[in-house]
Amino acid sequence: MTTKKIAVLRGDYIGPEIMTAGLAVLAAACTGKFAYQIQDLPFGGQAIDAVGDPLPAETIHSCQNADAVLLSAIGGPKWDQAKKRPEAGLLQIRNELQLFANIRPTRVDPILAQNSPVKEAVIQGTNFVIVRELTSGIYFGQPRKQTATAALDTSTYTKQEIERILRLGFKMSEHRQKHVTIIDKANVLATSKLWRQVTQQVQADFPTVKVDFSYVDAASMKLISQPTFFDVIITANLFGDILSDEASVLTGSLGTIPSMSAGNNGPNLYEPIHGSAPDIAGKGIADPLAMIQSIEMMLRESFHENQIADQIAVAVRQTIKAGIVTPDLGGHATTKEVTAKIIENLKG
Ligand code: NAD
Ligand code: IPM
Ligand code: MN
Repeated sequence: MTTKKIAVLRGDYIGPEIMTAGLAVLAAACTGKFAYQIQDLPFGGQAIDAVGDPLPAETIHSCQNADAVLLSAIGGPKWDQAKKRPEAGLLQIRNELQLFANIRPTRVDPILAQNSPVKEAVIQGTNFVIVRELTSGIYFGQPRKQTATAALDTSTYTKQEIERILRLGFKMSEHRQKHVTIIDKANVLATSKLWRQVTQQVQADFPTVKVDFSYVDAASMKLISQPTFFDVIITANLFGDILSDEASVLTGSLGTIPSMSAGNNGPNLYEPIHGSAPDIAGKGIADPLAMIQSIEMMLRESFHENQIADQIAVAVRQTIKAGIVTPDLGGHATTKEVTAKIIENLKG
């Protein structure tokens, strides 16, 4: 058994709290079954404080040479005025590793359905995945500039960038309900018009997959009013960012949603979709479930350790069922109590 290398980016505010929880669950689940070593690397605000750069060269290099990268969350008020913010480091690492596809699952667990602000009858059975393009669009387009009186961002997509994310999403849908929804703003934006044209070409190679298109404004409404309509959503960088936080409320809390970012080769990166939650940092109440489920995703997708991943999934579910959840899910448990219960369930 070869020892896998996991690069660990502990992040800022609640970042270290949930990473500690996640790594404890990983250790408990893997002992004697799966050998890995973790490498802690400076990243985000913590790296700005230590070495003046949110993404030091050493971190890029070590991530490139790892078998997988685990990230909690970075950023926060302490660095909002920094010349190069933690968020810039996050975009840069996604770009350096060419992680063009970000997979964000939204599944409503019946046990948690009552926690959603949306009616149970509406959300029961919700199970879709948002495939977010991650290394292009308005996040990366040039030029971008800002003066005291005007600012400019540029949204660009090439056919090649659109085609590779579409193919990945269509392939995923073949293993699901074979239903792809492209969410765009093709009634206004040139990039969206190109997305639709390329989709029409790509869909010819996936004859069993049903395809529909939705404008992002209407789609954001439908996500809440009829979430069971969706199976695989494929969308541009900015739309995917916004819609995935919106979708998280269906599941009960933003604090539960994991993600995987993947490229063509090289390590995948796994991270919760939420941020560093400065408003609750240090209180010991951060929900560790998004981080723990990101680790579960890593075990499945990067290491094909489905059995260990399944055991984590069961232990998480038992913990939720027992009502041992943090306040964002309506409970009274702390991060440590949730983590300890999951580990107890893993052993039991
Ligand atoms: P956020 O996602 O950090 O928090 C939004 C709300 O959700 C807050 O009320 C927070 O308390 C709650 N929340 C988030 N995660 C939670 C968890 N695990 N448990 C319980 N509650 C949780 O968004 P924000 O406040 O807009 O951003 C804070 C910082 O995080 C910003 O600097 C932002 O740029 C950064 N950010 C980083 C990432 C990342 O590292 N991938 C993602 C999103 C935002
Ligand atoms: C996310 C975050 C990031 C994004 C920010 C922190 C740059 O919101 O991962 O969803 O917009 O991609
Ligand atoms: Mn986001």
